[in-house]
Amino acid sequence: MSPEDQAQAEKTKSQAEGGTPKVRRGFLPPLPKIDPKDNVVFKSIIRHKLDQSPRNRTLAVVGNVFLHLHPPTINRDAVRYNYTWGMGGLTFWLFIILTITGVWLMFYYRPTKADAFNDIMYLANEVPFGKILRNMHRWAAHLMVIFVWMHMLRVFMTGSYKPPREFNWCVGVILLKFTLLLSFTGYLLPDDQLGMWAVTVGTNMARATPVVGHEGPLGPQIGATAFNDVRFALLGGSIVDSNALLRAYIWHCIGIPIVLSIFLIVHFWRIRKDGNISGPAPFKLRSDVEQAKPKQTMVKLVHAENAEVYEGK
Ligand code: HEM
Repeated sequence: MSPEDQAQAEKTKSQAEGGTPKVRRGFLPPLPKIDPKDNVVFKSIIRHKLDQSPRNRTLAVVGNVFLHLHPPTINRDAVRYNYTWGMGGLTFWLFIILTITGVWLMFYYRPTKADAFNDIMYLANEVPFGKILRNMHRWAAHLMVIFVWMHMLRVFMTGSYKPPREFNWCVGVILLKFTLLLSFTGYLLPDDQLGMWAVTVGTNMARATPVVGHEGPLGPQIGATAFNDVRFALLGGSIVDSNALLRAYIWHCIGIPIVLSIFLIVHFWRIRKDGNISGPAPFKLRSDVEQAKPKQTMVKLVHAENAEVYEGK
């Protein structure tokens, strides 16, 4: 018997005997039972009973603001870790970490030649937890690039780029490009020697872009020069200097994250519309296939016989 039942039994007994209820020493009177789900706040958020019927489980997911982004039913095999490696989800999670730590870094960083490098040194050496903040951003950036490639490899290996997911594969290619661009523009921001020369080499390649690069095919023919071509537009000049730093900063903190977020929304929407995450191809043993043959023949025969009967042969 539980302590509450025991106390209740004693109370009932003493009431029946006409006495005042005895309170056992060392025992607190039982608290009134409160059902945490029986109140207006809970009911306004969770609108369905937590029954395990398929219909109610579906309603519980689609009717909940936090859960409705998830599909009500999913392919059991598709969520196995060794199918997706969780790489798409981890890439997204890293993007969230980068956004939060990136906004935080903006409080300490000014994109000018005079301040940029000093601000980073000050952040890493003087600001409390500054070093961990900077390194969280840096490591998450490296990992995002690695994970997005791994995700793409997984999608390729499981053949998930095939119809109906070919459009989402193309959206993915755009996401890959923008992830790499985020990484590239962020490289210049500390304004150290490593970033400066990496961006010099990287943007030099833009000279050879067809049509819009002054060293690329058809570039000179349409009048592209070192002072009006795509490299000039990227750097805001003909060398990596203060304008390039400001442009990299604006692209890195505003332009590219906005475009990437828009394409991420399209990517996730397409996953739902394409029937959620693809599943592994059905696996059959040779014996299954061989056993299935006579059955199929029987089915065909039966159909053929029926057809004959139907057609009155
Ligand atoms: C910022 C980068 C990206 C993020 C955050 C992202 C996120 C995701 C997530 C969360 C999924 C669900 C399945 C899973 O976790 O594996 C997914 C599926 C998918 N992704 Fe990505 N993705 C990115 C880049 C790419 C790239 C580069 C490609 C290919 C070029 C791609 C193509 C696809 C396709 C085709 C699917 C559907 C796969 C299936 O149904 O099995 N994604 N993505």
